[in-house]
Amino acid sequence: MSKPSHPSSGQNQARGKAPSVATDKAAQAHEIRPGQSIELLKELHILTRDGKLNQDSRRKLKQVYHLYQFIEPLLQEVLADHPDVSLVDHGAGKSYLGFILYDLFFKGLAGSPHIYGIETREELVRKSEELAARLGFGGMSFLNLSVADSTTSAELPARIDVVTALHACDTATDDAIHFALAKEARFMVLVPCCQAEVASVLNRNKGKSLSNSLTEIWRHPLHTREFGSQVTNVLRCLQLEAHGYKVSVTELVGWEHSMKNELIIAQYRDLPRRRPAERLQEVLRTLGLEEMGERFFAPLAA
Ligand SMILES: C[S@@+](CC[C@H](N)C(=O)[O-])C[C@H]1O[C@@H](n2cnc3c(N)ncnc32)[C@H](O)[C@@H]1O
Repeated sequence: MSKPSHPSSGQNQARGKAPSVATDKAAQAHEIRPGQSIELLKELHILTRDGKLNQDSRRKLKQVYHLYQFIEPLLQEVLADHPDVSLVDHGAGKSYLGFILYDLFFKGLAGSPHIYGIETREELVRKSEELAARLGFGGMSFLNLSVADSTTSAELPARIDVVTALHACDTATDDAIHFALAKEARFMVLVPCCQAEVASVLNRNKGKSLSNSLTEIWRHPLHTREFGSQVTNVLRCLQLEAHGYKVSVTELVGWEHSMKNELIIAQYRDLPRRRPAERLQEVLRTLGLEEMGERFFAPLAA
């Protein structure tokens, strides 16, 4: 794995407690970056209370760096344009991703960069606020909102540079895409969770299209679920392309939280939209999913 660079090297070591011998060893092995907050790594249970890395936390840290390696170049691209980089993390949970991004990238920046965590569980929002205050991470805010409601919230700026959604449940990933489109986000980094909506429409309409031999692909309930999940991500990619984004799909190798490891990265490039918009409609029609047209709306598809 390549070692992502970060501009905040050498800062903030003092914010955590003095590194132990074990922490020093980890740092020597480049497992802990210069300037990385030891206190944060302990709060996230990557380091034990006495500053040790065990087998599990070593793997966790590797996974975080793996994801960071995809996001950091996008942040650099925004930074080359303006210093006030803004990122919204949807379905933030314990804001694990936001904190690591802030620690590795944002905290050393000039200007007023900001990370917003959107989360419906009030207690997680409160805990993240407390942790950010303890760490002195002033450029982090946490909003107790649903992803859908955040799109129109006055607490968020009109434009956002980067939108992330890591295992945001069910249709929250779709809401995150709608949010990003409304905020004209330059980049999206999405690791979808299971989305049950498309599978339920496939299931409901099975009887109607039995003459089509393609329905064999999703006839059995397990296949309905798996195919529904696959089609959902295909439709998401087409929707993004139909809005001018360049899309890449890869695997988030070894991410231990979930079996759902598909990583979708979208970069706004103002690409031609007609063909993906038409393809999107064609897939919806072929699979009997026309009623999902609003969920996967595309400007030129009407
Ligand atoms: C599986 S957890 C992932 C947390 C975090 N992103 C991570 O990868 O560690 C999903 C989180 O999304 C939150 N969530 C689910 N639906 C949401 C919605 N519509 N709006 C905001 N948050 C949502 C849940 O409360 C939960 O904390």
